[in-house]
Amino acid sequence: MSTETIHVSVAWPYANGDLHIGHLAGCYLPADIFARYHRLRGNRVLMVSGSDSHGTPITVEADKRGTTARAIFEHYHERFLQTQRKIGVSYDLFTHTDTENHHRVAQDIFTTLLERGYLYKERQTLLYSESEKRFLPDRYVEGTCYICKFPQARGDQCDNCGNLIDAVQLIEPHSRNNPADKLVKRESEHYFLDLGKFAEQILDYLNEHEAHWRPNVSRFSQNFVKDGLRGRPITRDIDWGVRVPLPGWEDKRLYVWFDAVMGYFTASIEWARNTGQPDAWKQWWYNPQAKIYNFIGKDNIPFHTIIWQAELLGIDGIYNDGVDTPLQLPYDVPANEFMNIEGQQFSTSRNWAVWLPDLLERYQADAVRFYVARTFPERQDSDFSWDGFLARVNNELLAAWGNLVNRMLGFAFKRFDGVVPAADNLTAEDEAIIARCEAGLETVGGLIADVRLKEALEETLGLARAVNGWLNEREPWKVIKQDRADAARSVYTALRCIDNLKILFAPFTPFSSQQAHEMLGYDGQLFGEQRIENYSEETRDHLALIYDGAAAIGRWEASKLESGQKLRKPSPLFTKLDAEIVEQERQYLGQPRVEGEIG
Ligand code: MF3
Ligand code: ZN
Repeated sequence: MSTETIHVSVAWPYANGDLHIGHLAGCYLPADIFARYHRLRGNRVLMVSGSDSHGTPITVEADKRGTTARAIFEHYHERFLQTQRKIGVSYDLFTHTDTENHHRVAQDIFTTLLERGYLYKERQTLLYSESEKRFLPDRYVEGTCYICKFPQARGDQCDNCGNLIDAVQLIEPHSRNNPADKLVKRESEHYFLDLGKFAEQILDYLNEHEAHWRPNVSRFSQNFVKDGLRGRPITRDIDWGVRVPLPGWEDKRLYVWFDAVMGYFTASIEWARNTGQPDAWKQWWYNPQAKIYNFIGKDNIPFHTIIWQAELLGIDGIYNDGVDTPLQLPYDVPANEFMNIEGQQFSTSRNWAVWLPDLLERYQADAVRFYVARTFPERQDSDFSWDGFLARVNNELLAAWGNLVNRMLGFAFKRFDGVVPAADNLTAEDEAIIARCEAGLETVGGLIADVRLKEALEETLGLARAVNGWLNEREPWKVIKQDRADAARSVYTALRCIDNLKILFAPFTPFSSQQAHEMLGYDGQLFGEQRIENYSEETRDHLALIYDGAAAIGRWEASKLESGQKLRKPSPLFTKLDAEIVEQERQYLGQPRVEGEIG
């Protein structure tokens, strides 16, 4: 099989609050599983994202906490790095949108679009607050949705129907911070992205990709285009963000969504420069063989299936010195639905949330990853529940996988002198279970490649259960009393299967696969190393999370475990959860979460 070139573009979290289970289930974990799988396959992977540091989501939080936008974003950016390293989301680069590089490339993109006639200027009627003496950004506005009549629609998007909102059209718009502050309409000049110019190309693009896209993503995007592609303003009356590179525009900024999606591109450039191969990003962006996957949550669909495509179509050829290969558009946009918590919708204001930093203080990263992957909202909304967490960790992860590993390695360690026993004349059943685990490389691998991750994990778990079933027939712990050679056969077979399962589980639960790998007596790392590094740029240093795959030895290949290999003393892969956690954890839900001061 030839090497594939895969770009994993992961939605950029707003750096205005901690990461929670919804982020993990929506896009970070799916993206990470996908990237790890492709790395094991030996494919060329570039996985990037970063903190979305601009826009009103950040300034709203800064106002609320009495500090600056910069202090808010720096605080959460650093926490994002720690949290994601702990849970093992293996970005080649997790940066942020306030880098020199991002600002410069975003401005180049703006200028290119402007020169090519894809931007136009127009006076816009906006909502103005007389009391604050300023235009109120969409996020500061609330009113009744003119589409679904939901009374608390935000000025940018309605959380009820998911539609993007034109704030001036809201019914009875008022300030979110101060509902008594009724807003008035007033004019301001802005740049618009002329989406209509791309309508035909985008429709063709959507049609070409429909067959392999998730039906909900296709349907939503097709309808969006059919409703008519109107120009969208891409500048804002705000003072936090990327400057508009034109004289006279000093007090306006690029709209956060306009620059954030560009992050996939700008971060690729930043990564390339910092690895000492400044042109390396072109292997993904100017390579017709490369496939770009955008991992996002469903509330981000139109930005990633239409608006980002328009930006890319509009800048085709940028930085490519006349080489005639088109800039690549995303190949797939596997958006996930939402993950609810104990049957209720996630809400920061009510603190109906499960925060990752808290979760990772109490539970193993792989336990969290396993449960979330078992519950991925791939086709419909799903539910995080604490008794579900308890049951799936104890009855599935531990019972089917952790115990298998510990039981067999412990047995081999004690009864076969700590080495993989010699075995000849495996029984037909022994050969069959080995073959079945090996066949999993194709079935599980195919499902992951199709981004059917939930099914892929189910298949993997099924194989672990099949190995347990076979082992309960063979019962080497009994057989050894009469027939040591036969017990050796089944121990050898079990270890081969475990060695294989360790690879199948590795994209989902990489830490425990590494541990199993070492207990089986191997050296070296299945995956590379994740570091938090000070990435230096021209004028400002910044912290970034990077994945360094140089030392990775893991391969998506059948076990080659040999008799005589020396094992290491086993220790349990997973901690059994106490039934009491269910009630304890439920008590945190809906209670105020204490967060320290910033700035
Ligand atoms: N910051 C946005 C959110 O949290 C997502 C942006 S994805 C981007 O909803 F890549 F386009 F930036
Ligand atoms: Zn609505």
